[in-house]
Order: sequence, then structure tokens, then C-alpha cells
Amino acid sequence: MEILLAGGAGYIGSHTAVELVEQGHDVIIVDNYSNSSKEVINRIEKITGKQVQAFEADIKDKTEIMSIMKETKPDCVIHFAGMKAVGESVAKPIDYYRNNIDTTLTLLECMKECNVNQIVFSSSATVYGEENDIPYVETMKRGNCSNPYGWTKYMMEQIFEDAANADENLSVVILRYFNPIGAHQSGEIGEDPQGIPNNLMPYIAQVAVGRRDHLTIFGNDYPTKDGTCRRDYIHVMDLANGHLKAVEFARDHKGYHIFNLGTGEPYSVLEIVEAFEKANGIKIKYEFGDRRLGDLTEYWADAQKAQEVLGWKTERDIEDMCRDTWNWQKNNPHGYA
Ligand code: NAD
Ligand code: UFG
Repeated sequence: MEILLAGGAGYIGSHTAVELVEQGHDVIIVDNYSNSSKEVINRIEKITGKQVQAFEADIKDKTEIMSIMKETKPDCVIHFAGMKAVGESVAKPIDYYRNNIDTTLTLLECMKECNVNQIVFSSSATVYGEENDIPYVETMKRGNCSNPYGWTKYMMEQIFEDAANADENLSVVILRYFNPIGAHQSGEIGEDPQGIPNNLMPYIAQVAVGRRDHLTIFGNDYPTKDGTCRRDYIHVMDLANGHLKAVEFARDHKGYHIFNLGTGEPYSVLEIVEAFEKANGIKIKYEFGDRRLGDLTEYWADAQKAQEVLGWKTERDIEDMCRDTWNWQKNNPHGYA
């Protein structure tokens, strides 16, 4: 299949591109590089040994996207292009609503006009909000998001649902990611956050490589066994494989479908620090700090549906996630720079 990856130069998009190319698909990466580097394209080509089509364009630019779709005639689109920093979304809500909603509408309009009928969307466990019981199941109500980023995902899911209801030819697969970490085993691609990392694993990796002095653990008074929050961390290559399955599913199924992509097994912040130390033989200096506003105590996925319907399951464990993160970071201490 020809698959257009909107935002395909980013962390999850680049790993998915490798997985799709290695499984015999052709990818077309469209990215404005607002949160990624053009070097990613060279690295994807190096890993796969294949040339990849890449276009520099803003997904909000309908004229550009129409022309790329007409030229490349994809069978399917995967929509990764979005702004994703929770804290920044509180400070810059308009930017988040503009970019995330507008990219979605533009893609759907261009797809309709170009007769492209399959789309897979990067959603997030954040749409389960603050009130659902754990583990999270796809049939639960979404809502009560704790920040504008979460609300953009909520709204985009609704847009996709309404679009699928109105057009019997459309296939929409919503993938709700839990906490993606790790990197491709080659160490050629990985997560390369701009500035101070917001997320746990990139922060740990930068402490390990000496770019940060120590990790601050946000709160040790949560009602968990060690007092730190628990999350469902998933290896980015398992997540990439989930996209492969989703694309194949979208080809054969019309309508609107939601899947959790997680392992179903939560780890606490302290357990992640210990796992990283053990996997890589490196001590991570840390201090306990205040709780971070908006953090939930714990949540994880019920990942049954993806297993039963997509035939997908995770294959990599926490040790793989920690080892591959470090392999990427130590080979690229300053990311792609
Ligand atoms: P990322 O920032 O690394 O990748 C997003 C890519 O989209 C970047 O390359 C960026 O340059 C591009 N982009 C953004 N706006 C664009 C626009 N208007 N036009 C063209 N390109 C644009 O993020 P990621 O971690 O790879 O996440 C991918 C998707 O998955 C996002 O939608 C994110 O919200 C979602 N998601 C991520 C996580 C996570 O923890 N990483 C968790 C849940 C959901
Ligand atoms: N944490 C620290 N110190 C840090 C960074 C994080 O203690 O420097 C803790 C957090 O408090 C949290 C855990 O590590 O308990 C995980 O935090 P992350 O920021 O890595 O991930 P989140 O679970 O907060 O959020 C992630 C994505 C969101 C997405 C959400 C949905 O960043 O985009 O998962 O599951 F919406």
C-alpha cells in the first residue's frame, strides 16, 4: 500500500515509517519539521535501505496537501501531525486548537476530494479523562480532559466519528496510545525533544548522558505502593507495529473503530528509574519534588481488543525499552543536531 504519514518525521511517525517500509509498504512523509529534523529521513533510509518520499509542507495548507495527494495517490493516511506538550497546551490553547483541529479537517477534506478513504489517527489515553475506572476500555465515555491538548484529541475523535457516520466509504481507525518510550534497536532514530524534556524517559536519558544533572520525580505521596505515579509504558516499535495492523484493518473494514495500544502492565516512576539503571548499568540521580499539576495517580490499558481484533500484541518488555532508549541517546547525545 501507499501510505501518507502526516507528521511522519516525528518520534512515532519515523518508527512507524521504518516498520511499514520493512513490511513492504511505500511511505510518503509530509512534515513541516516544526518538531522534528530533516535528518530523520536519511536515518529511515539508512535503516531500511530504501528511498523514502518526503515533502516539506504544513498539513493545514490545503492547496499543498491537495497537490501532494493528487501526485502521490495514497491508499491510506496516518495522522501523526500535532502539537503534544500538555503544559504548553495550557499556556497556548489557541495554537493547539488551531494546529490539531485544522490539520485534521484539512486532511479529511483533501481525502474526500482525492477519493482517499482510509485514515488512522494518533489519539491518546488522555481522552479517558479523570473519572473512568482503570484499566481503560475503549467502550468507556471519553471526556473530562485535564488540559487543552487532551480536549483537542477528544474533539478530533468526535470529528472522525461524525465523518465516518456521514460517509459509508470512510474507514477511520483511532489508536489511543498509552506512554510510548524506547527507540529503534539500530540506535539511528529515537525521541529527540526540543528544550527541556517534558516526559519521563527522555529526561532520564538526558540525565544518563550528562545533559541534565538529575531527575525530579513529581510526587512520592500518591496512593501507590512506592508513592509514585504508575503508567503503561509501551515500546515505540510495538506501537509502530500497531499502526501496520491498523492500516491493514482499515483496508478491509469501513466505519469508525477505536483501539487502545498499551501493554496492560503499569510501572511506577521509581520502577522505571530502577529498570533503566539495571538495563544499562548507569546510576540515575534523582530527587523527589512536588506533584505535577494534572497528573493522575495511575492508569493503564485494557489491550484485549487490539489483540483480538487486530491480532496485535506487544513483544518488547521494560528492559528492551530502557536498553533501546539508551542505545539511541548514547549514540546521539544531542539528538539529531
Ligand atoms: P512529534 O512531535 O515527535 O511528531 C509530530 C510531528 O508532526 C513532528 O514531526 C512535527 O514537526 C509534525 N507537525 C506538527 N504540526 C504539523 C503541521 N501543521 N504540519 C506538518 N507537520 C506537523 O510527536 P510524536 O510523539 O511522534 O506524536 C505523534 C502523535 O501522537 C501526535 O499527534 C501526538 O499527540 C500523539 N501522541 C503522542 C504520545 C507521546 O507520548 N509521544 C502519546 C499519545 C499520543
Ligand atoms: N515524571 C516525573 N519527572 C519528570 C517527567 C515525568 O516524575 O521529569 C512522571 C510524571 O509525573 C508521570 C510519569 O513520570 O507520573 C509519566 O510522565 P510523562 O510526562 O512521561 O507522561 P504522561 O503520562 O504525563 O503523559 C503522556 C504523554 C501525553 C499523553 C499521556 C496519555 O506525554 O501526551 O501520556 O497517556 F496524553
